[in-house]
Amino acid sequence: MRKQIAAANWKMNGTLQQANELLDGIINEKISYSPHREVVFAVPFPYLILAKEKIKNINGYKVAAQNCYTKSSGAFTGEVSAAMLQSIEVDYVIIGHSERREIFAENSKMLAAKVDVCLANNLSPIFCCGEPLQIREAETQNEYVATQIQESLFHLTNDQLKNVVVAYEPIWAIGTGKTATAQQAQDMQAFIRNIFKEKYGDEVAKNISILYGGSVKATNAKEIFEMPDVDGGLVGGASLSVPEFISIIKSLK
Ligand code: 13P
Repeated sequence: MRKQIAAANWKMNGTLQQANELLDGIINEKISYSPHREVVFAVPFPYLILAKEKIKNINGYKVAAQNCYTKSSGAFTGEVSAAMLQSIEVDYVIIGHSERREIFAENSKMLAAKVDVCLANNLSPIFCCGEPLQIREAETQNEYVATQIQESLFHLTNDQLKNVVVAYEPIWAIGTGKTATAQQAQDMQAFIRNIFKEKYGDEVAKNISILYGGSVKATNAKEIFEMPDVDGGLVGGASLSVPEFISIIKSLK
């Protein structure tokens, strides 16, 4: 079975004290994970080493950065390189979140370079894609998402793609409380898997984990995760609450 993942994207939230409480609250629940399940903490940069330390020697937990820069070192004040993340043994990096695309003007070409630099440093990208509301209303979301994937991932080889996780996050469902229906998530994610199948073949497509993100909560996670092409979630707001996120983890297939 392909990996089923509950990824907590804290975004720019939480003090050190809150980070400690959140991580401890979840880890102390002592959830036992079967090998195909994984929980990822995408914490702000200052808490990565802390998170890594806390999950050490515990099955099922991984740590993600929320971004990285394309260059490996140099005069780029304020940026963090993939090589730095690798040196502290980070597992994943979120690439192309809609907030990076919209607020920080990251484009497909830049994202392709970020994916490359992650893979070159043994970090698995969690590549985000998803359409804004006006695209959904015009019913052109499939073409829109296909273009995002083609422009930033299609230069990869089969072997490289095996280390990529995809997250479909319709922008209209992020932080709005307006979740895509389980069927809308399934339709898009089956479409995405099919794009990979056409380019990379059935075996690669069957094994790539595709997460859904956008107002996932304890009350809707099970219904969404039960869909055949939904392999878990990338969770924002609800990942900042210990009981909410524990319930989401327990909703994984
Ligand atoms: P919310 O779960 O807060 O809607 O955020 C989703 C998201 O952007 C995760 O990356």
